[in-house]
Amino acid sequence: MDSNEFRNLGHEVVDWLAEYLEHIGERRVFPDVQPQTVNKLFAEPLPEDPSSPENVVKELDAKLLPYCTHVGHPGYMGLITPSPSPVGVIADFVCSALNQNVGAYSIGPSAVAMERRVIRWLTDLCGYDAQAGGNLTSGGMTANFIGLKVARDAVSDDRAQHDGIEGRSAVYVSEERHVSIDKAVDAIGLGRNALRPLPTDNQYQVRLDALDERIRQDKQNGIRPMCIIGVFGTTNTGAVDDIRALRRVADREKLWLHVDAAYGGGMLLSRDWPMRNRGLELADSITIDPHKWFYAPLDAGAVLVKNQSRLTASFGIKPSYLTDELDQANERYQFYVHGFEQSRRFRSLKVWMSFKRYGARQIGEWIDNNVRQARHLYSLVEKHPEFEAASAPPMSAICIRFKNRGLGERASKELHAEVARRVEQCVRFWMATTELRGKTWFRINPVNFRTREEHMEQLFAMLEEESHAVLREKGAASRASE
Ligand SMILES: Cc1ncc(COP(=O)(O)O)c(C=O)c1O
Repeated sequence: MDSNEFRNLGHEVVDWLAEYLEHIGERRVFPDVQPQTVNKLFAEPLPEDPSSPENVVKELDAKLLPYCTHVGHPGYMGLITPSPSPVGVIADFVCSALNQNVGAYSIGPSAVAMERRVIRWLTDLCGYDAQAGGNLTSGGMTANFIGLKVARDAVSDDRAQHDGIEGRSAVYVSEERHVSIDKAVDAIGLGRNALRPLPTDNQYQVRLDALDERIRQDKQNGIRPMCIIGVFGTTNTGAVDDIRALRRVADREKLWLHVDAAYGGGMLLSRDWPMRNRGLELADSITIDPHKWFYAPLDAGAVLVKNQSRLTASFGIKPSYLTDELDQANERYQFYVHGFEQSRRFRSLKVWMSFKRYGARQIGEWIDNNVRQARHLYSLVEKHPEFEAASAPPMSAICIRFKNRGLGERASKELHAEVARRVEQCVRFWMATTELRGKTWFRINPVNFRTREEHMEQLFAMLEEESHAVLREKGAASRASE
């Protein structure tokens, strides 16, 4: 590919995407396609011969774009994947063109410096001081894993990373945790049974009496309490645990405190409901995901550690082929020595460019709009005799359900699933369902700068209409079978 072809293809792709983004709201959010059909579209052997750039783009236009889930559509309110900021999209293009590998200084001096600055912005936002450090990661899953690995090593006085784990340990977290915690507890070698899911109160915040009691029982049984995980924005309802109280317990018991703010970290940018006073800075480590509520395109998660030297203690191995002999003054920062991942995409570029282009204020306004939309939906639900909300939304995630008197829980689950299926088919919206305390709910979560309050009204009207329609059809079907 010569530079002319690169230029022409680049212009063509940018025009194609600009057109796509301009009219994204006119598309159906979720494609009308069966899994077998999309699989067939790509079922071809490895191409031996080249195609023209025009034909490659034509294929994308025919096979990829029509069958995407358009997460940038204002009606996408589903699993936490944001409408990506357009500047972030351009940043990913630049990132691939430069292909800096931020694992080692020698493969990207300016990229490493930028990445360190972005981490500093994040640690500042969380209220950490200059001792803090961190890594950008593939997402919250990896960040939670790294946070727990650092916890394990610190609590074992840096023996576990050499000798493995002695005896049985336990990790305490709310039953409303994200599943990444279960995987992380397994991945650090404790086994999933070491996890102690604790009940929550009526705001879905972890119950401190249950935490105390479980720690007491474990100690009595010779099990070593290792780490408490607080949640700063649960996936279902955006609940925030009492981090200050968790810190007190962690200090009393000499435990590590990790806080999962993968989703809720966005609230640190909120202007109207700032959550900078919730004690996040008291955590020993934090997960926070720019690719959730900072509207960065995938992927950009982050793990932050209050004392950066803990990362080095956990990961600081220097193989000879990576040792930088040219760094006599020891000034070249090597992420590979201070983090888990080796070769790493230059993820900070899209975060840096987004903050530069939009400023924290603008991003904070998008966040506030999403919170306002969730609250608006809550107010509609509160006034409606047939719907209920799990809790008033502190963030933008809200769970609501059709109360359906007379329907058993199984029938209610079927009804909610069927309504969600119809919403998916309806062209204009996508939302998920979830389970809370044995009941099924619609889970609606705008993380989207194109969504407006009227979309909430339209979605709610559809939920109401479809819930009644399904109920009527169920009634008619059971009468017919009598
Ligand atoms: C609270 C929380 N933690 C962790 C994760 C995992 O993040 P990721 O999907 O980026 O790996 C999620 C994902 O939604 C989440 O909501």
